[in-house]
Amino acid sequence: MKTLNLGLIGAGYIGHSMALAYRAVGALFPDLPPIRLAMLADANDAVATKAAQRYGFAASTGDWRTLVGDDGVDIVAIATPNHLHHDMALAALAAGKHVHCEKPLALDMREARAMADAAARAGTRTIVGYNYLHNPMIRLARRMVARGEIGRVVHFRGFHEEDYMTDPALPFSWRCERKYAGAGALADLGSHIVSFADALAGPIAELAADVATVVAERPVPGGGMRKVENEDQGQFLARFASGATGAISASRVATGRKMGLAFELVGTEGAIAFDQERLNELRVYRAKDPSGARGFATILAGPEHPDYAAFCPAPGHQIGFTDLKTLEVAHFLGAIRDGRPAEPDFATALRYEAVIDAALRSAESRAWERVER
Ligand SMILES: NC(=O)c1ccc[n+]([C@@H]2O[C@H](COP(=O)([O-])OP(=O)(O)OC[C@H]3O[C@@H](n4cnc5c(N)ncnc54)[C@H](O)[C@@H]3O)[C@@H](O)[C@H]2O)c1
Repeated sequence: MKTLNLGLIGAGYIGHSMALAYRAVGALFPDLPPIRLAMLADANDAVATKAAQRYGFAASTGDWRTLVGDDGVDIVAIATPNHLHHDMALAALAAGKHVHCEKPLALDMREARAMADAAARAGTRTIVGYNYLHNPMIRLARRMVARGEIGRVVHFRGFHEEDYMTDPALPFSWRCERKYAGAGALADLGSHIVSFADALAGPIAELAADVATVVAERPVPGGGMRKVENEDQGQFLARFASGATGAISASRVATGRKMGLAFELVGTEGAIAFDQERLNELRVYRAKDPSGARGFATILAGPEHPDYAAFCPAPGHQIGFTDLKTLEVAHFLGAIRDGRPAEPDFATALRYEAVIDAALRSAESRAWERVER
């Protein structure tokens, strides 16, 4: 099997996770194409050199265009702030690379459409970093829905809430600025819960949203205050194409919540509940259980569930955040090996972007808006 050479751009929070995942994947999934850590790029040479040494990349550069233009690189992984995804992905696709891009796909629909179009033309594989979708428990939930185990899905209620920006003393950063982040909590966190909604209840057709910026201005490093340009929290009522209804919210100022990516999925014959703060558990209610013995059962992740066994032969021993990134990478490499689309690729992630776009339009118009791709 041909070795695939990885070029990673960005060695921050999620770049770290990506580097660890690409390092580990070969040992966990020996049937996938082997990975060589070929080159790491970050914003300047010194940062890139240090990160490359830490993770074991063969080369480094302070200029991402050098990495994208390198004939030896097969996969470009983009782990940089949102405003850079578009240019980096387009350049990588034009150079014939497979592209692993962090979420959200882009700053806005214009960029996201261009990226999905370029991916369709390129014929190489793409995947977007919705790592939580690759949790064995989420894959189990999807399988249950597909098999009709909870009947017809009639409602999805979900949120992604964290409190990483609750403190008003937290400095202004790229996440607060439209030209670098796009939307706020809806893009950063809401896109994850939208990815769950889409995977479990199908595409969202229309919605009615509201947004709020709770901390209106933040201190600028070096002095002074600066206005926060995007929302701290956003929520919407949704109507799915299937006719199911939904209620979805996102917040980066949800005091007490660290990784509150949670949902309840209601079907005519059962229900499924999940919370990423307990990522190895899926709670399932089956209406067909005997009367008097019905209730939510907690299923602990184990080797019977998709891909858990790669980490551990024993149930209940638990996997973690970087393991989900590794499962995402494994899924991507399988798609490259087999010549099939990865999930979610740029085309699927465009659907999530369209939901965020409709939510922002609805918050502005104060009316229901259709999701338009
Ligand atoms: N999938 C997830 O669970 C998850 C979690 C966190 C962040 N993210 C996404 O990952 C992306 C990066 O976020 P982060 O939290 O890692 O940010 P970060 O600020 O921690 O890291 C970004 C890195 O990109 C580098 N960088 C910036 N400009 C660059 C350039 N022009 N060329 C090369 N490198 C450059 C920075 O130096 C830094 O090392 C965002 O799109 C974010 O939404 C995803």
